[in-house]
Amino acid sequence: MSPALTIRPYSEGALAQAAAKLRAGELVAFPTETVYGLGADATSDDAVAGIFAAKQRPSFNPLISHFPDRDAAARHAVFDDRADKLANVFWPGALTLVLPKRADSPISHLTTAGLPSIAVRVPAHDMARALLRAADRPIAAPSANRSGRISPTTAAHVAASLGDAIGMILDGGPCGVGLESTVVDLTTDRVILLRPGGITADQIAAVLGCDVILAQSDDDAPKSPGMLTSHYAPGLPVRLNATTPQKNEILLAFGQDCVTKGFDDVLWLSKTGDDREAAANLFALLHQADQTRFAAIAIAPIPDKGLGVAINDRLKRASAPRSATAES
Ligand code: TXA
Ligand code: MG
Repeated sequence: MSPALTIRPYSEGALAQAAAKLRAGELVAFPTETVYGLGADATSDDAVAGIFAAKQRPSFNPLISHFPDRDAAARHAVFDDRADKLANVFWPGALTLVLPKRADSPISHLTTAGLPSIAVRVPAHDMARALLRAADRPIAAPSANRSGRISPTTAAHVAASLGDAIGMILDGGPCGVGLESTVVDLTTDRVILLRPGGITADQIAAVLGCDVILAQSDDDAPKSPGMLTSHYAPGLPVRLNATTPQKNEILLAFGQDCVTKGFDDVLWLSKTGDDREAAANLFALLHQADQTRFAAIAIAPIPDKGLGVAINDRLKRASAPRSATAES
């Protein structure tokens, strides 16, 4: 465990310290009624990159943005009647809604993994909501465990898994639910259960008066094409490991030794070859490159270490033949 780690039981002072850290772009683990979350400012590319670095996840999945109430969430997500009905009944609580992201939302593209949708949740935990209010910004928070480990329901679990990677844990005792929130996709006419949780498909169907379709529950399992919003894939073709220029390409460059000469335009993932900076820039730059008039996006080689593993995983999907990727 790192000597820099602070574990503080809930108090006004601890809350103020945690909120200040979140506002400064640092990571703070905090209790919710489901599991402990590893929180970061959802509007900061760099802060969200810090979540992936700490969790050592080999891939970028979209993260849930947490809010103190429905109206705060509605500043970033478009609520339809179904979303309002579910929010009325189940919020605050263990339900996450995947909704269209507002065009003017400052949420980081890394939080949403480049998708046009956003997952939003209002937790039913007094400390969590007080923290969200004090931080006064959307907080991205996956479960506060290293990738592949079980989800933490006490501050001690968080410390054991992530103690050397984060600066602060707000200790609120054991979580009541102990299981992650139910995730429901409302971005289409259908209602799709993306992740089962404490709130059941039957409960959701009863409120909405319609069928709820069950999707694959495993985050890492391939999802059926055409059924779920999937990975963000640019419209332009993507060429990986580009070391020599081809005609009419924009390059996403990485590292001091990167060959940029001869490319029609260059955007820097990281000039110094910093994997965390590249992760923070990845989705925003893919979107930016995709909006140009060039014929293709070339990507410089990125070493397969640290966050480079997740970056390369995402780029491989972005460059896959379009028939192999689900609808975007
Ligand atoms: O209980 C919970 O939900 C905990 C606590 C901390 O709130 N959080 C949590 O977050 O489990 P996370 O980031 O590990 O879960 C995110 C889930 C994943 O299944 C992810 O694929 C899905 O939500 N998700 C997030 N954004 C999405 C989007 N735009 N489209 C589809 N699925 C999305
Ligand atoms: Mg998890």
